[in-house]
Amino acid sequence: MENEIVFSDQLLQQIRQAQHVVVLTGAGISAESGVPTFRDAQTGLWERFRPEELASPEAFRRDPRLVWEWYAWRRELVSKASPNAGHLALVELEKRLPVFTLITQNVDGLHQRAGSGVRFPVIELHGNIQRTKCFADCQIVDTWEEDGELPPRCPRCAGLLRPDVVWFGELLPAEALSAAIAAAAGCDLFLSIGTSGLVEPAASLPYRALAAHIPVVEINPHPTPLSSLATFAIPAPAGEVLPALVKAVWEV
Ligand code: OAD
Repeated sequence: MENEIVFSDQLLQQIRQAQHVVVLTGAGISAESGVPTFRDAQTGLWERFRPEELASPEAFRRDPRLVWEWYAWRRELVSKASPNAGHLALVELEKRLPVFTLITQNVDGLHQRAGSGVRFPVIELHGNIQRTKCFADCQIVDTWEEDGELPPRCPRCAGLLRPDVVWFGELLPAEALSAAIAAAAGCDLFLSIGTSGLVEPAASLPYRALAAHIPVVEINPHPTPLSSLATFAIPAPAGEVLPALVKAVWEV
């Protein structure tokens, strides 16, 4: 029999009474859907590359075809994956809480596929792998000619096409970042789920909450720099913790 997760009464009360809960997710929430986390070892064809060496404008300039093909592989992985119990539990939180802000660093779109973003839009800090934009003029491109050339070319300016994700060394979308910062500092409870907390500026969001005396909950089976500072640290997988938490709070 599985061990039942026991939550502190204080945490359950805080969720029941909260007017605004903010959740920040990272690659860990999609791990149970079979999407490898960013810092996991890569497999197969991509074994010899480090993601950090492929996800940058320099890498794209050096070898655009290689970067395009890596993202095509990741897009395929993501489209075959399904949302897991952790994603689904966050949909329940959005339904039940007066105000709910879901901020994600993930580019996989699994939160939206699970049904998040109906009452409150999902804030995507690092873009979305299913969208494509032009490397030259940065405009979103929906359709292009497939003539075998990789990456394909922008139908407007013939620039090279790239995924609409934030790469190392690039700025985050300004509106998404300012909405995330405002929510982190203005909520009643902040949950940091499945993120190593190593990549700024997303990594600072829980600390903004703590600085505003807002309780912070971390859900991650492995310790992170936040673990010892979090008000509650729950060292277990999100796909187990989140459904159990929803059940415990609302006795469903
Ligand atoms: P990481 O790959 O750095 O960290 C994933 C975290 O998820 C780790 O701390 C794991 O312990 C945790 N984890 C693994 N399985 C889990 C599970 N079942 N439940 C909960 N947690 C689990 O991914 P991120 O923190 O998302 O940015 O990385 C942040 C950003 O760094 C990414 O968005 C990406 C990368 O550079 C860009 O692409 C710009």
